[in-house]
Amino acid sequence: ELFRIPRPPHRLPLLGDVLGASRRTPLQDSLRFARELGPIFRRRAFDREFVFVWGSELAADMADEARFAKHVGLGVANLRPVAGDGLFTAYNHEPNWQLAHDVLAPGFSREAMAGYHPMMLAVADRLMDHWDRALTAGRSVDVPGDMTKLTLETIARTGFGHDFGSFERSRPHPFVTAMVGTLSYAQRLNTVPWPFLLRRAARRNEADIAHLNDTVDDLVRARIADGPGDGDLLDRMLGTSHPQTGERLCAENVRRQVITFLVAGHETTSGALSFALHYLSRHPDVTARARAEVDRVWGPTATPGYDQVARLRYVRRVLDEALRLWPTAPAFAREAREDTVLGGAHPMRRGAWALVLTAMLHRDPEVWGADAERFDPDRFDPKAVRTRAPHTFKPFGTGARACIGRQFALHEATLVLGLLLRRYEFRSDPAYRLRVTERLTLMPEGLRLNLDRRAAAP
Ligand code: HEM
Repeated sequence: ELFRIPRPPHRLPLLGDVLGASRRTPLQDSLRFARELGPIFRRRAFDREFVFVWGSELAADMADEARFAKHVGLGVANLRPVAGDGLFTAYNHEPNWQLAHDVLAPGFSREAMAGYHPMMLAVADRLMDHWDRALTAGRSVDVPGDMTKLTLETIARTGFGHDFGSFERSRPHPFVTAMVGTLSYAQRLNTVPWPFLLRRAARRNEADIAHLNDTVDDLVRARIADGPGDGDLLDRMLGTSHPQTGERLCAENVRRQVITFLVAGHETTSGALSFALHYLSRHPDVTARARAEVDRVWGPTATPGYDQVARLRYVRRVLDEALRLWPTAPAFAREAREDTVLGGAHPMRRGAWALVLTAMLHRDPEVWGADAERFDPDRFDPKAVRTRAPHTFKPFGTGARACIGRQFALHEATLVLGLLLRRYEFRSDPAYRLRVTERLTLMPEGLRLNLDRRAAAP
């Protein structure tokens, strides 16, 4: 069944296609192979064979929930020791998935989001204080580092009433260091034939997981001692029973969910904001338009209300376009629920799976045109969106297991971009060339910007 799927030509018996590919950039290597091999291809690593899909028609077929479901494999499966049966890493058949989904989904309703808005503003204020100090001192800012501080504080405060004090630290919070360690380790596990080759890294990973657990256990203990907060995610995890079955999450599962949300809730949003700021700094025309929109919709000084964020239509398109070129969760896996034929051509047995290469789907010239590599937010104006084929823009995955935090991320990121556009001019270093680091998620490496206060700004 596999034989008709193209694969790279030079294969070594043991190393597969690994040679000539960098262990540090498996996703960007796959993009290169994709361009050579077409809309569906396979790669071999050691004794394993992986199928990649990115052509828009095949990807749309895989979005059919009647025939396909999320597959917990590769990087996601490697995170099981950290996140267990938490929402992101749960197998479809695990009862805790539906239970946690039903208990936590109301935490992302419009009403809940409106409640998070003032906290998101307060964290954004801390970022801007931090940036004002850099500006006064004539220092450039570390964009991914600062966006990570911002998004970690946002999810910690809104979800768990917790303050990591990220902006008061000169180095990343140890929680972030441990998280980056576990994500990088999970990615590296895919690139070695035998995990024992990573013995030393495995020990460090154990220590990182222990640190994550300890942080979370402290946070949960404090909440139980202090009593319920204001109905945040942690209150729901600890106190809400399922509306139909009356079941509650057990203590071990709460721990897994807290880690899941602290990690999934900030790493990808931080990357999305960082890529968007990179593109803004390189496209003065786009920046001018986005800034004019913020001035018009929010006015020069007023604190934006919850409803005013979604009204930044163009800023949102900037974000969508950044997520098109660099979807910060760059792939997701789908498995066949029953024996089926993918795209009418590729038979798949029940349980067989493939990776949807979102980062390449988002560059399919048949959908996005010959200039797919160009940054252009107008691709997301309503008319363009209406006329595009469905399932061609998937930064948040698809179906029942798509991102539960999508609205949260978009609200937070649009709010922050609006505030930054209103307050600062961004000057990029002309010598900077975008380099993308991979640790399952994507992040622009070494991106720094110089800031100026806008003349008309408050
Ligand atoms: C799932 C992307 C922000 C929590 C997913 C998936 C993707 C994704 C692609 C599906 C993964 C798969 O199919 O294996 C993103 C991106 C974000 C973002 C690009 C930011 C720009 C967030 C935020 C939260 C969050 C802010 C929480 C506050 C989750 C959870 C899941 C998930 C819990 C698992 C859902 C389930 O399986 O039921 N995300 N995400 N994400 N995301 Fe996000």
